[in-house]
Amino acid sequence: MMDRQIIRPVVCAEMLRANLTYYPEINLSAANNWIIMGNVGSGKSTLAKVMIYMISRFPNSKTFLCDAKYDDFRTLDGLTHYYPLDSYERGLSDFGVILENRLIGNDLNRSMCWIILEEWSAFLSSLPKSRRDAIMEKFIRYAMLSRSFNLHIMVILQRADARWFDSVRDNFSVIALSNLSREAAMMFGFDREAMRPVFGAGAGHMIINGNSGAQQEIVVPRVDMPQLDEAIKRYFMNQ
Ligand SMILES: Nc1ncnc2c1ncn2[C@@H]1O[C@H](COP(=O)(O)OP(=O)(O)O)[C@@H](O)[C@H]1O
Ligand SMILES: [Mg+2]
Repeated sequence: MMDRQIIRPVVCAEMLRANLTYYPEINLSAANNWIIMGNVGSGKSTLAKVMIYMISRFPNSKTFLCDAKYDDFRTLDGLTHYYPLDSYERGLSDFGVILENRLIGNDLNRSMCWIILEEWSAFLSSLPKSRRDAIMEKFIRYAMLSRSFNLHIMVILQRADARWFDSVRDNFSVIALSNLSREAAMMFGFDREAMRPVFGAGAGHMIINGNSGAQQEIVVPRVDMPQLDEAIKRYFMNQ
């Protein structure tokens, strides 16, 4: 596996205030699983699109996109690897097949592979408890095993609640758009004292692998949505 897989999806807010556009690097080999959280309209899906675009540039990368809302990603309708609404669980299973095959050695391929869980809490809330428990079990397994096989999870949700992550919170890096509650900040190891209030879509904080010393305020760059949607659609058509 490559030991450095760099993307640069956000800019440093502090430097932006000094009129400098600086894109800190994120090494996906070290920080393989991500949570994107924030209020409605805070720019989560947009950031996910920016990240998907950057993922699409890694050779032979695959992305399974589960989407409980079928709203921001409608342009992907009908494409393989896009799992809206009732097909959400099928996306999880298809990703699971790749994981299990790499695990038992049937698949020696280590190309980058993502599962994106859009509106994760909305999806889980919609399930009866028994199904939810079964899915959480899968999720925990994926989160624990993903890293060694160049597999990656991106969870997108409005409010972080411990039960949507269970024991595997520590396996995630976080970009929190909009302002966090004290509980949510604590849960992911943010140093709340060092967080400034943020305003507007795309503004928030990032913490990599729970390292609050490296926590930083970030901004998602303004994107041209139709262009970005088009690029992502092309990726899904070809992957
Ligand atoms: N980085 C951005 N560049 C351009 N527009 C943005 C950006 N972030 C958010 N927006 C605008 O805000 C709206 C809501 O953003 P969205 O990503 O859908 O938020 P969320 O998924 O958190 O509800 C988008 O439809 C878009 O119009
Ligand atoms: Mg959204």
